[in-house]
Amino acid sequence: MDSRLNGSARLMLVSDLDYTMVDHDDRGNTSLLRFNALWEAYYRHDSLLVFSTGRSPLSYKPLRNEKPLLTPDITIMSVGTEIIYGEGDAMLPDDGWQHYLNHNWDRNIVVEETTKFPQLTPQAEAEQRPHKVSFYVDKVEATEIMNVLAERLAKRGLDVKIIYSSGIALDVLPKGAGKGQALAYLLKKFKIDGKLPCNTIVCGDSGNDAELFTLPEVYGVMVGNAQEELLHWYAHNAKSNRRILHATERCAAGILQGIGNFHLGPNVSPRDIKDFQKCKVNIFSPAYEVVKFYLFYEKWRRAEVEKSEQYMQNLRSIFHSLGVFVHPSGMELPFHQCIDAMARLYGDRQGNQFWTWVDQLTSAQIGSDTWLVKFYKWELNENERQCTLTTVLIKSQVEVPDTFTWLHMHQTWLDGFAIANAERWLF
Ligand code: GLC
Ligand code: MG
Repeated sequence: MDSRLNGSARLMLVSDLDYTMVDHDDRGNTSLLRFNALWEAYYRHDSLLVFSTGRSPLSYKPLRNEKPLLTPDITIMSVGTEIIYGEGDAMLPDDGWQHYLNHNWDRNIVVEETTKFPQLTPQAEAEQRPHKVSFYVDKVEATEIMNVLAERLAKRGLDVKIIYSSGIALDVLPKGAGKGQALAYLLKKFKIDGKLPCNTIVCGDSGNDAELFTLPEVYGVMVGNAQEELLHWYAHNAKSNRRILHATERCAAGILQGIGNFHLGPNVSPRDIKDFQKCKVNIFSPAYEVVKFYLFYEKWRRAEVEKSEQYMQNLRSIFHSLGVFVHPSGMELPFHQCIDAMARLYGDRQGNQFWTWVDQLTSAQIGSDTWLVKFYKWELNENERQCTLTTVLIKSQVEVPDTFTWLHMHQTWLDGFAIANAERWLF
C-alpha cells in the first residue's frame, strides 16, 4: 500500500485539516510551520502522515496550494468516503473502498428525500460526491431533521450515517463511511500486510472527527479550539478514555502537545530553537541538519537572529570550501560566494510574511559517513510561493563530532515556479 516504508510506521498521525492542522485565524501559519519542521526533522523517514478532511478533492486542492501543508502519505477526503494514496502523478484512489460504500446506498434516493426538507440548503456542487450529499442547516433544527431523515431513508432501504459538524454542516453518507471507518479500513489493511503502525494518533476539532476517537488503540487529540459538538460527544461517550486529550493549545500546536502528552516521540519543533549558536540536541541526523539550516536561513533574512559575523563563520566551516551550489537557473555558484551573498541579505525580508519549509525529505546513506538528502524546499514571500527539488550531499565531520559538512547542492525549479528575480534565491 505504501512503498516508501519497508516496515511498520513508528507513528501514524491522522489529522483533520480545517481548524486542526490549519488555523484559518493565523495568517502567519505559526503552528503549522512548527509542526512541519518537527515532522520533517524527526518523523518523515519512518512515520506516516495522513490527512483526513471533509473537503472533496476539488476543495482540498486550493487549501493545499494556499497553506504551507506538507505532502501527506495518504489523504482521506470527503468525510471518509474517498481514500487516496500518494499525490500528483503518483495519486492512487482506493477503489476497493469506493466499491464497499455502494452497499445499501443510492445517492438518488438521498437527494429525493432530502429535497423534502426546505431547511436543508445544499452545499456547493464541488462538495457533492458519489458517497456524500452535503447541506447547511441551522443548529436549532439539526437534531430533529437528522432523526426524521434517518427514519425516512431507512424506510426506503438505505443504510446511512448523518453527521453534523461545526454547528452548520450536515453530511449524509453510507453507513460504512466516515472518517473513523475509513481509518479502521486502513488499519486493517496495514495489519494484513503485517505493517500495523507502532502508534497511531488522531487529531480533530469538529463533529465529523468524533468517530476517529472511537477506534481502539489509537491516541486522540481534540485541539484546544474544538467545536462544541465534539466536546459534547466526548463528554457523553468517551470521558473515561485516558487516551484522549483535550489540548489547551489551538490547532497544530495542540497536535504537538498531544504527541508530547502521550510520549509518542520528540515534540519540540526545531522552529522553537532560539539560539543557533548554542543549539545542541541529542539527535544527529541529516534530516535535522537540513531543517535547522533552513530555519536559520529564514531567521537570518527576517533579521530574527543577531547579525553576527560568527554565524557566517560557522556556515563557512559547515559548507565545504570547494563545494558548489547548482542554482535552479542552472548557474554554478561556489558555496563561499553564496554565503557572502547571504551575509549581505541580512534582514532583507524583515517584516515580510517570509517563510521557508522543507517537504518530503528523504535521506540515503551512500557511504560510511556520507548521505544524499533529497527534499522539496519551499519559500513563501508575501503571497508568492516558490519550490525547488533539492539534493544535498553531506558528510559527517570526523574532527568535530555531531557536525556535518555540506559538499554539494543541486536545485531544480518545480514546474511553474521559475522566478524572474532569481538572484535573491539562495540555497
Ligand atoms: C468540510 C466539507 C463539507 C462538509 C464539512 C463537514 O467543510 O467541505 O462538505 O459538510 O466538512 O463534514
Ligand atoms: Mg475541522
